[in-house]
Amino acid sequence: MFDLKDRRILVVGGSSGIGLGVAHAARALGAAVTIASRDEEKIAAAVAAIGGGARGFALDTRDEAAVAERLAAETWDDVVVSAAATRAAAVRELPLADAYASMNSKFWGAYRIARAARIRDGGSLTFVTGYLAVRPKKGAAIQGAINAALEALARGLALEFAPVRVNAVSPGFVDTPLWGAKSPAEHAALVERIAAGLPAGIAGRPEHVALQIVAGIANPYLTGSVTYVDGGGTIA
Ligand SMILES: NC(=O)c1ccc[n+]([C@@H]2O[C@H](COP(=O)([O-])OP(=O)(O)OC[C@H]3O[C@@H](n4cnc5c(N)ncnc54)[C@H](OP(=O)(O)O)[C@@H]3O)[C@@H](O)[C@H]2O)c1
Repeated sequence: MFDLKDRRILVVGGSSGIGLGVAHAARALGAAVTIASRDEEKIAAAVAAIGGGARGFALDTRDEAAVAERLAAETWDDVVVSAAATRAAAVRELPLADAYASMNSKFWGAYRIARAARIRDGGSLTFVTGYLAVRPKKGAAIQGAINAALEALARGLALEFAPVRVNAVSPGFVDTPLWGAKSPAEHAALVERIAAGLPAGIAGRPEHVALQIVAGIANPYLTGSVTYVDGGGTIA
């Protein structure tokens, strides 16, 4: 139905979780994949796992100068931003410094990438946001606000950057390292509990979100959109 043959795709946050899933899917569809994130060891392991000539480089999206310098070096067909590390806690309990750090990592990190990335006409920029923007949860208001801000940014940039297409993909629960190390029993219980609460009856995995992202990259008629890949979580 579609392929991404010879497209040069950069996945920021591609060493783990959803970003790594996107890197695998894009590679399987014939793209030339490059990943970026902070930890060199994680990058090397991910590059080896993706295979097929994948490349990687270290980049911290919080570092404005590094982002500007590194992204000026190459032009991409498509850029996906999945990188983030945020903290959740009730607003009155979360230290303001941590709230600012979460916004800096996920929102401003994506903003810096968007501002610096060179993307060819007709290519695409995709932000990974999250269900908390539309299905809030006590103790995670800051994360919902960050995701909503990123979705509004995507819609605005879809006008500003046209003919580059800009979209947001909003995952529900996805089984990734973001949820922390757990015993096999705890992990199985979490996945079972999530699946039982969702209309789709399964817990999300990185490849589910990746499928939507690569389809969005390939679809020349998709821009300014927010797509939910959440097992029906936002309507449950
Ligand atoms: N998993 C879920 O249930 C879920 C649900 C909704 C939304 N999301 C969103 O989906 C996105 C990806 O989450 P995930 O579950 O795939 O998490 P993950 O497995 O922890 O992966 C995060 C990736 O981002 C990189 N990263 C973090 N901070 C970075 C920075 N400052 N600069 C560059 N790279 C950075 C990490 O590598 P390094 O640490 O080596 O830098 C890693 O490659 C996040 O925005 C998350 O909020 C996830």
